[in-house]
Order: sequence, then C-alpha cells, then structure tokens
Amino acid sequence: MMKRNFLLVLVTLVGICAEAQNVSISKARFQKGDDLSWAKPETNDASWKEIDMTKNWDDQGYAINKAYAWYRVHLTIPSSLLKGADQQKIVVFNLPKADDTDECYLNGKLIGKTGSMPGDKAGYRSAWSTPRNYPVDAKTGGIRWDADNVIAIRVYNGGEPGGLFDNPLTVRVPNAAEGLSLRFTDVNEGQAHCDIELSNAYPLTTSGTLAVSITDRDTGKKVGSLTKKLSPKQGKPVSVSIPYDKKKVCLLEATYTDSKSGVTISKRLPLKYILTPPAPATPRFNGAPLFGVRPGSPVIYRFPVSGERPMKFTAANLPAGLKLSESDGVLSGKIDKAGDLTFTVTAENAKGKASQEFTLKVGDRMIGLTPPMGWNSWNCWALSVSQEKVMSSAQALLDKGLADYGYCYMNIDDGWEAEQRNPDGTIAVNEKFPSMKALGDWLHERGLKFGIYSSPGDYTCGGYLGSIDHELQDAESYNSWGVDYLKYDWCGYGRAHAKERDKGVASYVRPYLLMQKYLREQPRDIFYSLCQYGMAKVWEWGRFVDANSWRTTGDIYDAWVSMYDIGFKRQAGLAPYAAPGHWNDPDMLIVGKVGWSSNLRDSRLTPDEQYTHITLWTLLASNMLIGCDIAQMDDFTIGLLCNNEVNAINQDILGKQADRVSKVGDIEVWSRPLADGGTAIGIFNVGDEDKQVNIADYVSKNFTIRDLWRQKNLSADELNCTIPTHGCKYLKVK
Ligand code: GAL
Repeated sequence: MMKRNFLLVLVTLVGICAEAQNVSISKARFQKGDDLSWAKPETNDASWKEIDMTKNWDDQGYAINKAYAWYRVHLTIPSSLLKGADQQKIVVFNLPKADDTDECYLNGKLIGKTGSMPGDKAGYRSAWSTPRNYPVDAKTGGIRWDADNVIAIRVYNGGEPGGLFDNPLTVRVPNAAEGLSLRFTDVNEGQAHCDIELSNAYPLTTSGTLAVSITDRDTGKKVGSLTKKLSPKQGKPVSVSIPYDKKKVCLLEATYTDSKSGVTISKRLPLKYILTPPAPATPRFNGAPLFGVRPGSPVIYRFPVSGERPMKFTAANLPAGLKLSESDGVLSGKIDKAGDLTFTVTAENAKGKASQEFTLKVGDRMIGLTPPMGWNSWNCWALSVSQEKVMSSAQALLDKGLADYGYCYMNIDDGWEAEQRNPDGTIAVNEKFPSMKALGDWLHERGLKFGIYSSPGDYTCGGYLGSIDHELQDAESYNSWGVDYLKYDWCGYGRAHAKERDKGVASYVRPYLLMQKYLREQPRDIFYSLCQYGMAKVWEWGRFVDANSWRTTGDIYDAWVSMYDIGFKRQAGLAPYAAPGHWNDPDMLIVGKVGWSSNLRDSRLTPDEQYTHITLWTLLASNMLIGCDIAQMDDFTIGLLCNNEVNAINQDILGKQADRVSKVGDIEVWSRPLADGGTAIGIFNVGDEDKQVNIADYVSKNFTIRDLWRQKNLSADELNCTIPTHGCKYLKVK
C-alpha cells in the first residue's frame, strides 16, 4: 500500500508521459554510496532524495567525485505499449547518459552496463557520452507488465561533473528498423571506395533493400549507385562496398528500407576528394628559398624536392663549411660568421632537372624564419608514443614523400620521460625510448630534425617529470641528444605559479625566460615552442623571450566547434605579432588518423572542414605539425598536406600572417600579403548551409585569380560558385 501511494505521488510529481510506444520519466530517487543490495526491488527507498536524471548531480548540489551513487525509479510499464509495435519481442530501456559509467538493474536483474567501473577487471573506463539502450525480452526479461517495476541504476563518477544527464529514462517497444545503424568507412587509397556497414543492435527480424547513390556535388549528376537485398541480424553486420572517383567532389547517400514495414533509415557522407594535382615526375623545389641558422650551430636542411627518384643534387658556389649530399639533398656543416650566403642547388633525375637559388641566413635570431613543418606525436599516440612509433612515422614521412614538401621536424610530445631522474639529476627516459641520442642521430642522418617536450613545472600534463630546478641540465641533455625543437608546456607549472604573490605578466614570462637562456647557450639551434594556451597574452611578449612560436589557445580536437573556435575566433587580430622567427601557433593539425591513444581513427572533420583547416592554418603562418600516424596516411590526407602552392603561402618569406578582412553573415574572408607582391585570400563559409558566392565581390576581376588547391587560374565564368558548409575557396591574386 505504502509503495502504491508512493508511486501515485511520483506519477503526479514527475509526470510520466506515455505515448503509444513509450513511457518516459526524468525524476528518480537518489542515494550516495554503493550497496549492490540497492538493486533489489524490495529495498526501501522512501527516504532517498528526489533527483532529476537529465541534469548532472553536481548541478543539483551533490559533489560526488571518484565515487558511486544510485538512482531508483518506480515505473508501471503498460502492456498497451506492445500493441502498436510491428514485432512484440523486445522492450528497450533507453537510459540517460551517465557521467561516467553505469549498471542498470530491472527488478533486481542486470540488464545493461556501459563503461567499466574501477573494480572491474578491465579497470575504470569512462563512457560518459555513449547513449544507453538496453534491450530486454518482452516475455522472459523480467518486466512486470501493468505493475510496479523498479529500475535501479548504479553510477560511478571518475571526474567532474557526474551522474546521469542529458535525456530522460524512456522505455519503448522498437520497430524492426530501430536498432539498425549505418556506418561508413571511406578508403581513399588506391582505388577509392566506401564500405557501408549495416548493423542491427536488437534481436528483431528485418529484411529489406539498401540503396546507395553517389552524386557529383559540382554538377549535381549521379555518378554511381548500387542496390542490394540485406537481412542484418543482431551481432552480424552486413556490408557493401562502392568505388568512387577521388578526383570528383561527391556525396554518398545510403538508405535501407525494411520491406515489411516500409520503415527506412538513411545517412549521407561527403566523400574525400583530392584537389591537389599530381606532382610532375621532373624535380620540383617545394620549399622556401632560404633557411636560417645561428653562427657555429650545425646546419641540417633537407632540400624539399618532389619528382622521381633517384635524384642527384649538386650545388654551384657552395660556401666553404657546407656539404650537400648528392643522393638526398641534405645540406650539412656549420658557418661561424653571420651573413647571407647565396648559392644555387640543382636537382636532376631521369626526367629532367630544376634549380633553386638559395640563401643560408646566418645570424643570432635566425631560427624558424618560416613556420616549422613536421610531425608531433600527441594528436595520434598521446602518452602511448614510443621510439618505434616515432621511427615508423619518420620512415613514412620519407617514403610517402612528405619530406619532399618540407615536413622535417619529428617531435615527441609528452610521455618519454622515466619516473625518476638519474642520481646526478639529469633527465632519464622511460623504457619506450631506448636511446634518445641514437634516435636523434637516426633522424639527422636522414636530414630530419628531432623535437622533444617538457614542462617548466614539476610534472607535465601527462604526469611525467617536468624541468623545474633542472632547466640547465635538461637543455644540456637536449643538446647532447641532438634535439632541434623544444615544446615547453606550462602544465605542472600551475602549482609553482599559484604560490607567486604577484601574478602579473612577469610571473608568466619568468619560467620561459629561464629556459630560453639555457637553450640559447647550447651550441645548436633549438626551435623554442611555448605552450601555455595564450595566458597573459603570450603573443605580446613571446618574441621578447626569443620564442620561435607560442600556442595561442587550449588544445584542439577533431571537431568543427574546436577548429572554428581556435582557428577563426581566437586568431583574429593576432597577425601583427607574427614575424619571421616568431609565430602564433593555433595548435597541431587534426587531419589523417588521430585518436590521442593507441586506438586511431579517421579525423572527424568532414573533407570540406579539412580543406578549411589547412587553408586557414597556412594563411595563419602557423606551425604545420602533422598530428596523425603518417604510416597510415591516405591519398586524401597526402593531397591536403602536399600541395606546393598551398604550402608556399605558409612558408612565404615575408612572414605576414593573415587576418580577417571581412565577415558578412557566414562568409569570412582572411587574407595576407606575399613576398612576390601577390595576396593570398581564403573565403570561408562558416555556416551550416551551402552558400552561393561571387568571388568578384571580394576580388577585382582585373587580377589573375588562381585557385590554389586546384592550381589553376579561374576564368570569369568560374567566379560564381557554391562554397559548401564549413568549406572554402583558397585564392592567390596578383
Ligand atoms: C597539453 C598540450 C598538448 C599536449 C599535452 C601533453 O597541455 O596543450 O598539446 O602537449 O599537454 O600532455
């Protein structure tokens, strides 16, 4: 009786909404702590507090961190739910999302679990953003039809905020197609094709037709299609594959129709497309015509030249003290006196030859005269980085030809240090990095450069040792290993900084100035990259601590919101602070296979967003650090990263960063002046709809207007064009 009264009160209080095929509820009873007997329906929860399951528990006054709490819901499940359903086999309990993991019991029986709890064999693993759909057999799953059911949910919170959130708890009877989902794998390598997988999450029978079509987005014409009869069963996905032309800009659409109910599910995917024309077989110099070095520092410069191998490199008037390797075009040696040394380098292969007049600029402030290009381990491997992974990416950088476009820094991010320093206080490496010196030598032998990571604090963000109180020793270690790049990440320095009485700009500058002194004392050029997320307007003082670049924001991730916020919103106005040797750094690239772990996946940016990313980053004179596994890089990503005309904007020796020159509605225009008197212009559609744009509204028709991605001049009738949502046009005007 007591229970029935409670249920009635609950029904009126929270308003259960019952439609034809679902019952939904957002309020529950709530108790901190953990006791598995709370799963039992007979548990007396009358004294438990009331809570809203659609809002995190922090927002409702419960700060429960690294701990458990339970929710209990009393619910009448009406048998009328089954009536309208095309199959009456299962009932799905769609739970709110759980920050971080949950176990769900129906009348005492476990019906589903997402993520894993600290006590589990696999150890704690958050699954805070995963939707929870737990199917239960309508007859044998333990549902008490037309009576009181108790749904008890055990939640563990591994880090703020915590608890159930987002959607209410819904109980529904699904139709045949509801557990179906379509997944695409776009393989842009060799003969490009898209694999389409149809899976069925529920034990419901369905058979129907999958219809796939590919439309050319430029012409609107259908360029490919297939249909196939399929019957996906639970746990046994079925798939089809369709080839496509990677030089066309295409949209794939897949629709599955359940033949009995006529219910359909469909999904669209803009396919990857390559605009960059193939490089000629003849040699072509793809790098800036200059490189800077400090007097007395070792010179390591690999001439970035594409074209068929083998290739022979020679130099006319090569200054004394320098050597150019004939087979791979690596310039080495050292020059003791400041000044500009100009000479001509020629590359020759079976198909022809090409030359570049090149200047080696020797002087004290000559590091990073154009933005650094290379790779960093963080966006792909994060803390799972190892020497093996660095070497495999370096080898791929060479084999796949990225080094022929100027990518040369191979930077290890967080995760290389041992747990303790050596007894003499020098930094030690962990077992994943057998020898830093050997790794440095291996990279240098190939004309590549070696980058490393540390923090001015006690610990790095990943919990590894930082450089505090060992700055000089670390700078000396880096020199002895042959390090050419240091990313110095604030992280643990927050603790030291918290103790500062005066938290003015000087307190932010101090740790970076200290390392600058010791780095610059080393007899080699170490590109100094500050990473402190833009605090204290680092762009205003970065160059005065002789930093070669400084991160202007927090970390990027592979979603439009992140790239838009960092690239468009936060870089506007920063152009005046960039100059040769000193660059704003809007963070590393998020194209290719990324994942911040040992599990990599395709970047979640759409192909149009990836074109926008590279367009904007080259306009911004940003560091161009690839953040993916190069060994797994597909043709699309190579096309994005190896367009010599696009990269030439990034490497332009005038060193003027682009700024936003107009923003009308969703169309933003960014431009920068170039050393040859031309102007680079990016016209971006940052809105959610495709937009019709007339380029003549932004550029006089009297100029030569070059489409940089396609590497061709635009004719007057090509000026009126569509820019897709989050896409762009990249132009050079002269
Ligand atoms: C962050 C930094 C990232 C990465 C990470 C390593 O502070 O912004 O780029 O270096 O630390 O723990």
